[in-house]
Amino acid sequence: MEKLIVIGGNRLDGEVSVSGSKNAVLPIMTATMIVPGNYKINNVPNLRDTQTMIKLLRIIGAKVDYFDKTLIIDTIKCDNPSAPYELVKTMRASFYVLGPLLARFHYSKVSLPGGCAWGPRPVDFHIKALREMNVKVRLDKGDIIAEGQPHGGDIIFKKKSVGATGNILMASVKAMNETNIINAAKEPEIVALGDFLIKLGADIEGLGTDNIRVTPIKNENNNFEFDVIPDRIEAGTFMIAAATVGGNIKIKNIDPSHLDAVIELLKGINIDITINQNSFIIKSDGLYDAIDMETSEYPGFPTDLQAQWMAMMSKAKGDSIIKENIYNDRFTHIPELLRMGANIKLKNETAFIKGIEEIFPAPVMCTDIRASAALVISALASKGESEISRIYHIDRGYEGIEQKFSKLGANIKRIST
Ligand code: UD1
Repeated sequence: MEKLIVIGGNRLDGEVSVSGSKNAVLPIMTATMIVPGNYKINNVPNLRDTQTMIKLLRIIGAKVDYFDKTLIIDTIKCDNPSAPYELVKTMRASFYVLGPLLARFHYSKVSLPGGCAWGPRPVDFHIKALREMNVKVRLDKGDIIAEGQPHGGDIIFKKKSVGATGNILMASVKAMNETNIINAAKEPEIVALGDFLIKLGADIEGLGTDNIRVTPIKNENNNFEFDVIPDRIEAGTFMIAAATVGGNIKIKNIDPSHLDAVIELLKGINIDITINQNSFIIKSDGLYDAIDMETSEYPGFPTDLQAQWMAMMSKAKGDSIIKENIYNDRFTHIPELLRMGANIKLKNETAFIKGIEEIFPAPVMCTDIRASAALVISALASKGESEISRIYHIDRGYEGIEQKFSKLGANIKRIST
């Protein structure tokens, strides 16, 4: 078993380069199956989740090579349109194969994802939308079996969902006619997926807005290269870390426009941010005011940075409130932050935080990808040694986190026990 040992107290100084976006590359990897062909995808992070998706594509019959942040995927011989429980249970994003498999084979068997640490996380929007596209969907021994060529039509989501928008977008590029996705997710990862589908030959309008109109692929393009966008959540994690711990860092390889909500709040507590074309410079003395925050869909403050923000507010000057509007139960980091001395009270989906002067080191345990990042930030901000266990959660979504923080001057190392 591996652990991170962090001796907190060092300022963060220097430069860090952000990896490609996990949440963008995962659906793009599945989209390579829509049209049999050869694809080269650049800026792919080496993560547990990208490795899991490689395994899944191979099970379906794709040839996949990964080296030097580049994926070469040959989907010509895919012949097994199914995603087994063993993989779906370790990574819910496996559900993203549903749309592409239906698009290509008019059949898909995908294990129904179970609950997760943040609550039930249903997939009812995906299923309802596919049924509205005239696809027959049934449950058989824990698997969702979907059959039929998707029709187009108007698909109206009652609530925005990144995953459901992505799946329907991918199903619709091979539908019988045009599809209008109404109340679509606007996240940059959906825009990136749409850009990939446009390269495949689909005609898509309205990416990044509430309504996306898809005209199915007429002339297929099945041999091209694609660059993955930078990971805005990793970038945001480094911004919050520098602000909390104190230091002067340059965060490179980013798209600043993806982080407007985070920048605005950080500026609101007087963190010094210089925004360049592809980088930020963050300066902080580790002393900052408290400010209230609530998560919302893009372009609002991302739920995937809520835990890290809470670690930051734990040592702010004053009291703050964090309201989680996307996942009511996404608070598994609170008991761990309490072990480090934080003063947080939870009432339904709202956390009430009283800033403390000093965070204390402690042995703590990761519970999900972003909760883990919150613990690393708190450990870096404390004075003394913390041991962070169950770090396989971190490895799902952060590439070489200890190397990147070490390069910034942190005292952090991975040990095997
Ligand atoms: C994606 C991200 C995840 C992020 C989340 C919200 C990936 C691989 N994961 O997850 O990191 O935290 O977006 O930005 O990109 N919902 C339903 N029924 C459904 C689908 C969703 O009720 O069928 C609800 C969810 O419970 C949640 C909300 O809709 O309350 C948004 O979820 P959604 O955007 O679908 O999240 P994911 O795509 O699973």
